[in-house]
Amino acid sequence: MTTLIEPGHVPAGTGGTGVKRIGIIGTGIMGADHARLLTHAVSGAVVGGVFDLDDERARGVAGASGGAEVFTDPYALIADDAIDAVLIASSDATHEEYVLACVAAGKPVLCEKPLAPTVDGCARILDAETAHGSRLITVGFMRRFDPGYTDLKALLATGEIGAPLMLHNVHRNPAAVPGMPSANLITNSAVHELDITRWLFDDEISEVAVHAPRSSGNAGGTRDPQLLVLTTASGVLSDVEIFVNARYGYEVRCELVAETGTATLDAPPPTSVRRSGLHARELPADWRPRFAEAYRLELQDWIDGAGQGATAWDGFAATFVAQACVKALESGERYTVEMPSTPELYRR
Ligand SMILES: NC(=O)c1ccc[n+]([C@@H]2O[C@H](COP(=O)([O-])OP(=O)(O)OC[C@H]3O[C@@H](n4cnc5c(N)ncnc54)[C@H](O)[C@@H]3O)[C@@H](O)[C@H]2O)c1
Repeated sequence: MTTLIEPGHVPAGTGGTGVKRIGIIGTGIMGADHARLLTHAVSGAVVGGVFDLDDERARGVAGASGGAEVFTDPYALIADDAIDAVLIASSDATHEEYVLACVAAGKPVLCEKPLAPTVDGCARILDAETAHGSRLITVGFMRRFDPGYTDLKALLATGEIGAPLMLHNVHRNPAAVPGMPSANLITNSAVHELDITRWLFDDEISEVAVHAPRSSGNAGGTRDPQLLVLTTASGVLSDVEIFVNARYGYEVRCELVAETGTATLDAPPPTSVRRSGLHARELPADWRPRFAEAYRLELQDWIDGAGQGATAWDGFAATFVAQACVKALESGERYTVEMPSTPELYRR
């Protein structure tokens, strides 16, 4: 990676320099990682301010980001004229209030997924952005920037493997927080595959079913794993195995089946080792190494204002489908997803 902005140097004011000062709300795992990328790997931006309920965490990230200002009030950060745009990486339930405050202040905002955990919360955000009259919100569905997924989308566009029929997705984490609600596998993890299915096929998900086998003995009462079966409006099937206590490592892969060929997105790295009777590839412990390039490209796109990221409408749609999947998990029934039509502001 290239260091384009000297870490340790946050300009006192960026008026006229073109460098954007980013305020980060939430400096846990993701906030700290975004701060690192903005400081060391993305051009045209510096971390200008941070806020976290945990002041010590905020101070640590500010220090590692070249001495960014530590705010004691998140709304003061959002309102500050020296902050050009805001990145929200606090816990899911706090996204709505911060996104709404950014829209009210007319500030561009990159909100980690999910946009909001409830459909009502997402709808309030859509209303606010629509009333503002132009797009300010980007949602952190970073897989849209992952070179593996963009290759799949480009391949489909060539027509070389014909029209898509099925997508088989596997999404596994080594261990989840004990006692995690079963719905969180959908709303927090499989929500990435809900978004990827919509994005890859440029199609809405129109029907969902969720199956769960007996739960793993390591799942601590959570229904884990689960198998989501999604049908798109044009009739493509996308199944998602989500298993958050798989123990052996973090893994995301998929196989696309089309009319005259298939394409497989496997877990990097490309290097494998043969020794002691084994042929092995190392797996990461979590998502950060697997999607490092996707996060970097997502941030660069946002800083450049290139607009390839997921919109608030995409955030709404993912939560809308996720809610139907949660109902399907709880009832064991299939659900038709009656997605409202895309508002004018979000038609590309
Ligand atoms: N795009 C992805 O691949 C991806 C991966 C993991 C997490 N996420 C999302 O990123 C967000 C953060 O996840 P994480 O793994 O970093 O969690 P984390 O628990 O490590 O960090 C969350 C931080 O938010 C802070 N916080 C909680 N309430 C707050 C509030 N009201 N105001 C300000 N700060 C507050 C906490 O103190 C904590 O430091 C979540 O919404 C999560 O769903 C996205």
